[in-house]
Amino acid sequence: MVDRANRPSALNAPSAAAPGAQVDITGSGASSKVIATLPSGESVEVLLFGATVISWKSGGGENLWLSEKAALDGSKAVRGGVPVVFPVFGPPPKEGHATSKLPQHGFARTSRWEFLGKSTSEDALDTSSVKLDFGLSSSSLSEDARSQWPLDFGLIYSVTLSKDSLQTVINVRNEGETSFEFQFLLHTYLRIKDITKVEITGLLGVDYIDKVLNATTHKQSEPSIKISGEVDRVYGPIPQDTTTVVEDGKPRFDVVRDNLQDTTIWNPWTEKAKAMGDFAPDSGFKEMVCVEVGAVNGWQKLDKGEVFEGGQTMKSLL
Ligand code: BG6
Repeated sequence: MVDRANRPSALNAPSAAAPGAQVDITGSGASSKVIATLPSGESVEVLLFGATVISWKSGGGENLWLSEKAALDGSKAVRGGVPVVFPVFGPPPKEGHATSKLPQHGFARTSRWEFLGKSTSEDALDTSSVKLDFGLSSSSLSEDARSQWPLDFGLIYSVTLSKDSLQTVINVRNEGETSFEFQFLLHTYLRIKDITKVEITGLLGVDYIDKVLNATTHKQSEPSIKISGEVDRVYGPIPQDTTTVVEDGKPRFDVVRDNLQDTTIWNPWTEKAKAMGDFAPDSGFKEMVCVEVGAVNGWQKLDKGEVFEGGQTMKSLL
């Protein structure tokens, strides 16, 4: 893979004394989670199951939508927050691909990850951010997942909380002898107040596959996307780095992609929301929109020893 000038900073060694940020590990087994809080009050909660960010609070309150019926005990993927999708997005190809036996959205969101530790900024005096690293490798997968995708890989997922932003970055390494292909996506459920007042900008002129319209391809011809029914679109490749969620005429979130070319916009609307057993309340679709950055059109290929890195920075603009 080509090295990038603008890649996320390398992992720092976890430091024992991270002045400023408070990091706690609570719960046990599949319900274990890591909670980090900055001295200025912002916080993030990450469930080890799926390395799923289930809460991100900043000045304006909670930024992520989490279903009232989300399973947080490891029994199924979390409905809400930021589930990590790897190594396949959506239903896998029916046959003939290494991911074909995997469930929808792969195994990363339903595997238990390891907390590798926290680190603060390289500038020791800067206590305004904290980075949490999580790891998952082929050797720690369930037997099922391992047999469905018997390839050797290592993932490091870094979640960095700063005053007004949350950065989530994946590092995928091929640790085996043979090359493999994968897709990756961050299935972020953003919390908004009223979907009828939301517009999404930054996708003008981009092609998208509309899953609601039999997976036909279209071009975004309006500067903003308004949502008044079920939306399930995969945009890409996207030249602009930033997608903005505007609410009531004011920018609410910027979602900035790094080395990821695609973005899915999803809202299940009334019927689909009702049909999901873990989606609650039924009217919850009015308070969420998924803006899911990823590499999902085609496949990323990694040869032996190669590494892919990509992610997002979400900025709360309140
Ligand atoms: C979106 C897909 O990313 O995830 C939708 O584009 C899908 O098609 C949605 O319905 C939710 O998926 P899941 O597996 O979490 O129910």
